[in-house]
Amino acid sequence: MKKFKRYTITSALPYANGPLHIGHIAGAYLPADTYVRFLRLRGEDVVYVCGSDEHGVAITLGAKKEGLTPKAFVDKYHNIMKKAFEDFGISFDIYSRTSNEIHYKTAQEFFTKINDQNLFTIDSSDQYYDEEEKIFLADRYIIGTCPNCANPNAYGDQCEKCGTSLSPKQLINPRSTVSGKTPVLRPTKHWYFPLDKFEGWLKEWLVEGHKDDWKTNVYGQCKSWIDQGLQPRSITRDLDWGIPVPLPEAKGKVLYVWFDAPIGYISATKELKGKDWEKYWKDPETRLIHFIGKDNIVFHCIIFPSMLKANGEFILPDNVPANEFLNLEGEKLSTSRNHAVWLHEYLQEFPGRRDELRYVLTSISPETKDADFTWSDYQKKVNSELVAILGNFVNRVMVLTWKYFDGKVPSEKEIAGTTEKRKKILAYYNQAHTDLDKTVKEMINCLQTFKFREAQFQMMNLARIGNKFLADAEPWKLAKEDMEAVAAILNYALTVVGNIAVACEPFLPDAAKSIKKQLNASGLDKKWNELWTKEQLVHTVPEGHQLNAAELLYKNIEDEDIARQVSRLKKTESKPMEATNLKAIKPEVVFDDFSKLDIRIGKVVAAEKMEKSDKLLKLTINAGVDTRTILSGIAKHYSAEEMVGKQVAFIANLAPRKMMGIESQGMILSAEDSDGKLRLIRPDEIVNPGSTVS
Ligand code: 2FM
Ligand code: ZN
Repeated sequence: MKKFKRYTITSALPYANGPLHIGHIAGAYLPADTYVRFLRLRGEDVVYVCGSDEHGVAITLGAKKEGLTPKAFVDKYHNIMKKAFEDFGISFDIYSRTSNEIHYKTAQEFFTKINDQNLFTIDSSDQYYDEEEKIFLADRYIIGTCPNCANPNAYGDQCEKCGTSLSPKQLINPRSTVSGKTPVLRPTKHWYFPLDKFEGWLKEWLVEGHKDDWKTNVYGQCKSWIDQGLQPRSITRDLDWGIPVPLPEAKGKVLYVWFDAPIGYISATKELKGKDWEKYWKDPETRLIHFIGKDNIVFHCIIFPSMLKANGEFILPDNVPANEFLNLEGEKLSTSRNHAVWLHEYLQEFPGRRDELRYVLTSISPETKDADFTWSDYQKKVNSELVAILGNFVNRVMVLTWKYFDGKVPSEKEIAGTTEKRKKILAYYNQAHTDLDKTVKEMINCLQTFKFREAQFQMMNLARIGNKFLADAEPWKLAKEDMEAVAAILNYALTVVGNIAVACEPFLPDAAKSIKKQLNASGLDKKWNELWTKEQLVHTVPEGHQLNAAELLYKNIEDEDIARQVSRLKKTESKPMEATNLKAIKPEVVFDDFSKLDIRIGKVVAAEKMEKSDKLLKLTINAGVDTRTILSGIAKHYSAEEMVGKQVAFIANLAPRKMMGIESQGMILSAEDSDGKLRLIRPDEIVNPGSTVS
């Protein structure tokens, strides 16, 4: 394998249009984070870059739905996603965003460099135009009847009912989703990237050059795409949100989001490294690797490399270890049906249990085919593997060392076979040592080749081997007769624990930290290539060294925890609540009493958490008629950040009430579920602030 001087590692820039779920994490982030941690532990020079993808129709449509400007919309989700990544411990060197100035400049320069070589072609074609809104409509903004299955609400790029991919002109009775009106066809000019001209080069570089080192799922998809023949791709759009095309004759046009987004990796590196950025993108001794989900393969393996090649100054991806998809409880993850495990919700519901989610997601990582996450499997893997194998081994060794040697590392003195029992112990030791050495090698080999499931399995084998050694050697039975042997056994067991502390870091960073703290051994922070020279085992807990107190690495996940998660998912499939959970209807009121309530819709323009209260948020509401402050007991269910921009229903004529020194001028309405969770009552579509509810 070629030896590289440094690494540039990227994870797909997620659209800033909603929170992250476990499908995202298992696809492009956790494998990359594991790999990057491994590289750093080996002392490699690495940059790991990512950021929010903030342009394109996914953003403008989302913003419209939430009644926000695109900028306010991406600000909101960029912050939510950035925080969730941080809280989960994905160790980007930078999490940037494509609305940054440096990115605008980088993307425009990239365009100009290709344009100066006269590589783009310009073509005019008829596209749908909304005369009322005075905009050209992107494919997703047009709906109409599907020519294949007669679904009246098919999109301009795809019918979601029958799955047929469409072009807007195929729709029967097209309508604009912006104004509801029938659009007209108008000619418009666009810039095209000549992908067809790169076909020969792609055949050489990719089809021939990466036949053996790219994953078969990735290689196969690329090859079949190239075999079908490549067409020029339009790389500009008529939109008012995006990076302006840097040409005077392209006024009102922006770069297509898939042109600017991957350039975001370069901009993020510039932002991170300043003048030093170039070697990470231009030196052939740098290894560029893109971690993505399978829906992004063509863009990262064919289109972006062709753009890099056309530009001429950049290195190309050496590998793109794309993952397949993750399903949830046997079904596709779905944001619109809320069939998902949201990362920020997981972190709230299972505080301090990041490793557990990392472990389970890596153990089912969709490396070669789609995989399925189920809550029962999560519970089983945490309880019977993390708790029973890893946690148990580390804890047993710590507790026994405290019991017999006051927490001091005992002597590793030769115990060579004077007694039958000693002879056996020696044999167990030799076996364990051979197994451990082999396992470490295998783990490293798997990490190098992006087989993270198998690598993690090998890492856990270290604990399996340790457990077997203890069970065979039975130090607790020797305590009365041969303390020298007990000392030798525990000394070796502690060496295994030390090796686990080092080996588990790419997979289970929180466990690594805890074990190192328990061992109180500074030598464990050395780089892998110093510690594991020739993959030899680490001896970093010398005789006489004082350990810290034992602490449990993992606790069992209880049945109730799982039942709560499963019932939450079922609810999103709209199963009725059990009758026993329903509250009785309140006594009857006459209509006149009801009509005294003035219920309105308002928009949250600012929100902050009330200090000293874990329940209250202070919301500033644009109520149309006025702007007012309302204190609402929803802080456990919504963060201040995610409230901003939301429309809410509230009682506008409730007598003001003072709470914690602040006057609350109304009450926000929400639905309380059987598990006590609150969900806001909101209009089906955006309405003007001040609209009445009846
Ligand atoms: O599919 C997506 O979520 C895209 N936002 C990925 C972009 S990756 C890159 F090119 F920036
Ligand atoms: Zn259809």
